[in-house]
Amino acid sequence: MRWCWLLMLRVGLLAATPPGTGQPEVGAQGGPRFETVELGALIERVVEPYRPTLPPGIKLEVQKEDLPSIQTDQTLLSRALTNLVENALQAMPNGGLLTVTARRAGDTVQIALADTGVGMDEEGVRRAFEPYFSTKTAGSGLGLANARRNIETCGGQIELSSRLGAGTTVTVTVPIDRRAATARG
Ligand SMILES: Nc1ncnc2c1ncn2[C@@H]1O[C@H](COP(=O)(O)OP(=O)(O)OP(=O)(O)O)[C@@H](O)[C@H]1O
Ligand SMILES: [Mg+2]
Repeated sequence: MRWCWLLMLRVGLLAATPPGTGQPEVGAQGGPRFETVELGALIERVVEPYRPTLPPGIKLEVQKEDLPSIQTDQTLLSRALTNLVENALQAMPNGGLLTVTARRAGDTVQIALADTGVGMDEEGVRRAFEPYFSTKTAGSGLGLANARRNIETCGGQIELSSRLGAGTTVTVTVPIDRRAATARG
């Protein structure tokens, strides 16, 4: 009987921590792993798999200006950016332009993903980062919630602005050296 109870307890624990709403996706056991990362190369690794399969009507441009190496958890940052690229491409069913711009801004770097897709209404903008909020038939609604948590674990911030029918821009800001940012509070 005891194994049965243990099984129930385990199922209960799993149910209490649905995927994507607890700790960061990676490093849940060990915490984030900060290392020196060449940001330009990381961005290329994120967008590269999408290039060969882009529908003819979708253009993808990457603009990188004078990018430093940064201290970050590259798995968390890459996963967040991948979610944002996915969203942007899914928002352009009739084609459009996704521009990924990365630049240094003081002791941070800013990565902006601007798409010319369907955009979001007021409720969408308000609820976008809410876990399980999705307007897609097959969406889990966890992409942006996970992205935000991953970016915040890296010591950064994520912002979204959108206009219905015009497009969406998501801007990720991460410190160049998180240890310095933490020391300043
Ligand atoms: N670039 C975008 N353009 C227009 N709408 C967006 C964009 N990014 C997100 N959204 C809106 O925000 C909702 C939540 O996005 P999120 O990434 O969290 O979940 P999802 O994309 O629906 O599902 P999942 O990412 O789990 O596949 C989306 O369903 C969509 O309505
Ligand atoms: Mg998504």
